Amino acid sequence: MTSATGNLENKQVLLIVGGGIAAYKALDLVRRLRERGVHVRAVLTAAGKNFVTPLSLASLTGNKVHEELFSLTDEAEMGHIELSRAADLVVVAPATADLMAKAANGLANDLASTLLLATDKKVVMAPAMNVRMWLHPATQRNLAQLVRDGVIFAGPADGAMACGEFGPGRMFEPLQIVEAIADALSSDTSIPLPAGSLAGRRVLVTSGPTHEPIDPVRYIANRSSGRQGHAIAQAAARAGAQVTLVSGPVSIADPAGVTMRKVETATEMLAAVDAALPVDIFIGAAAVADWRVDGVGSNKIKKGASGTPSLKLVENPDILAHVANHSTTRPELVVGFAAETNDLLDHARAKLLRKGCDLVVANDVGEGTGVMGGTRNTAHLVSRAGVDSWPLLDKDEVARRLIESCADLLGTEPRS
Ligand code: CTP
Repeated sequence: MTSATGNLENKQVLLIVGGGIAAYKALDLVRRLRERGVHVRAVLTAAGKNFVTPLSLASLTGNKVHEELFSLTDEAEMGHIELSRAADLVVVAPATADLMAKAANGLANDLASTLLLATDKKVVMAPAMNVRMWLHPATQRNLAQLVRDGVIFAGPADGAMACGEFGPGRMFEPLQIVEAIADALSSDTSIPLPAGSLAGRRVLVTSGPTHEPIDPVRYIANRSSGRQGHAIAQAAARAGAQVTLVSGPVSIADPAGVTMRKVETATEMLAAVDAALPVDIFIGAAAVADWRVDGVGSNKIKKGASGTPSLKLVENPDILAHVANHSTTRPELVVGFAAETNDLLDHARAKLLRKGCDLVVANDVGEGTGVMGGTRNTAHLVSRAGVDSWPLLDKDEVARRLIESCADLLGTEPRS
């Protein structure tokens, strides 16, 4: 997720407000969108009406609020099919367990669910519900289905809930939802589903940088944003895989429908990867720090009498090589990345052989390419059979192509 909210001037958003205590935040969301020049039409579900009034939504949006599926006056002015298509984006906030279940199963028994079924636009959902409801296998199943259907999830966040419990299920704050909306609107074309299926497959992805402490307040890091690795995890989930994403510290949102394992250091990343094995596919997209500082103390290093400190570095474990050479649980497919500033393909081929992986995605991260931390990537898929070079693509599209290639290479039958 980008931090900037881009230019949203004159975009049309159809906002579906579900029933939940978080519905009050939908009013602030409307205000934030209107400040940015967005035209908002609101749909209020019957349950939503218990929390916010049609009048407050109408006043804030400056538009009539739609509530009924079979309303003669509404159909005469703007039918529900048109309502779902006139917008640039459909946003559901709060997205209740019930709305998610309806959308995941294609139900259309009220205006909100009918619009979600009839729309040809991207849909952003901001879930809000009790933590037990969120974690219930039924909701998680619906979430996985909606992710496969291309729904974009903003949240939920972890935190204290109105019901007194703590955990995932809190609706994102309005500004976080605005960011997700801006992200969704920033690419005109929606990324199609990967053509292959990874249903029944387990996929493990590493992403982001690692932070290697120097002392309790300082660390060594790199410029990786985690965008490519997170996009790969998302694409794998959309292809039906059961995905675990082990991520170093990043400031982008967790992809929806994947199991997250958050770590800081390379040593922690290795432990999290080991704990997630066995899998069918391992994709090492993390920019793992090659070295860590030896003997990190518990006190902050102070300037002073001892002069400029020198750091003694020790090599980190190579997670990719460890997985690729695992004696008992080597995944069927091991994919590495090669971030290079020069002699890209030669280095990538050498890495493929040295680390023992099946594929290497080679990226030119030289000065001026903007790949590290950016949103686009020029990738070359290097295997023992040869090289497939892709043009400059959005990282989501690189992810989709990579997942398609993995599905192709594995064939359709999951290992028992
Ligand atoms: N990698 C890893 N563990 C490490 C270092 C790298 O798993 N300790 C993985 C990365 O996730 C990536 C691949 O190895 O998939 C290549 O990373 P890169 O930094 O390009 O290569 P290095 O191993 O650092 O090799 P070199 O120093 O020669 O560039």
